[in-house]
Amino acid sequence: MTVSPGDIKGLHKYEILLLKTLERLMKKYLWVPEENIRKSSRLSAAEMEYRLGQLMEKNMVKSSSVPYRGYQLTFSGYDALAVTSLVKNGTVTALGSLIGVGKESSVYEALGTGALVIKLHCIGQRSFQSARLNRGFMPEWSHFPWIFASTYSARQEFEALKALRKGGVNVPIPIAVNRNVVAMSYIAGVNLHQAVLEEPREVFDAIFANIKKAYELGFIHNDLSEFNVMTDGDSVWVIDWPQWIEPTHQNADDILLRDISNITTYFAKKYNIVESPEKIRDMITGKTDA
Ligand SMILES: Nc1ncnc2c1ncn2[C@@H]1O[C@H](COP(=O)(O)OP(=O)(O)OP(=O)(O)O)[C@@H](O)[C@H]1O
Ligand SMILES: [Mg+2]
Repeated sequence: MTVSPGDIKGLHKYEILLLKTLERLMKKYLWVPEENIRKSSRLSAAEMEYRLGQLMEKNMVKSSSVPYRGYQLTFSGYDALAVTSLVKNGTVTALGSLIGVGKESSVYEALGTGALVIKLHCIGQRSFQSARLNRGFMPEWSHFPWIFASTYSARQEFEALKALRKGGVNVPIPIAVNRNVVAMSYIAGVNLHQAVLEEPREVFDAIFANIKKAYELGFIHNDLSEFNVMTDGDSVWVIDWPQWIEPTHQNADDILLRDISNITTYFAKKYNIVESPEKIRDMITGKTDA
């Protein structure tokens, strides 16, 4: 599901008020009763009805009539709140078009201090890993695991980008995180799988130099592939970090090897550069200095 920039830009202040009211009351109710929305928003019944109708047309709110009339935010409603907040605090001054849709996110171009992208994390209930719940993070969202999981995912990515960037790994510059949305610098390049490299060996080495640095900072990517590396032919950037794990993770060695193998397999096929993933893993973990 993706949210329409036009719909977000066109939100009336009462619609934003209602989205915020619903967000607050959803900590208490699965379906927020009409009466509570009215009292909390202080809108007249007619105004509230009309604005909720508009929000439902934009698929930002949904309703249920059984056992009583109640309302909930949808993913698009939650996205709209996050983007509206980033606009309000000045992080985003213009919202552009959709440039990428994955299983678990949508990425839009935007403007702020320079060219940005905003990544809307969207983790559905099914892909939500209950293990993450055990950390006791945001217990107020236990009725809405998709809010919990998507917000958690955005924060994980933002934390990783901050630490990695500070430690000298080439990743997008993290700008802000709000709810399930991360704002970061725009990379003027293409995904590795779309690139035709003139100096593939240099790019290959640059990727693993970055992965080694990340490892030393305590980050294993855990979804590394030619789809999550961007390049302008010269520099490389490693993107898409929400699922990172620590080197102390019980499967860290296997996960790191899988990350490395995805890249070595790609370079072997496309550029005939053949290297042993195990040797690279030893170089990264410091077991040898090959
Ligand atoms: N900072 C950025 N600058 C330019 N383009 C970006 C940036 N971040 C992401 N993109 C583009 O958007 C696409 C999707 O982003 P990303 O890989 O982070 O998420 P995803 O693949 O949708 O996530 P998931 O793996 O959960 O499906 C990327 O493949 C890339 O083309
Ligand atoms: Mg990706």
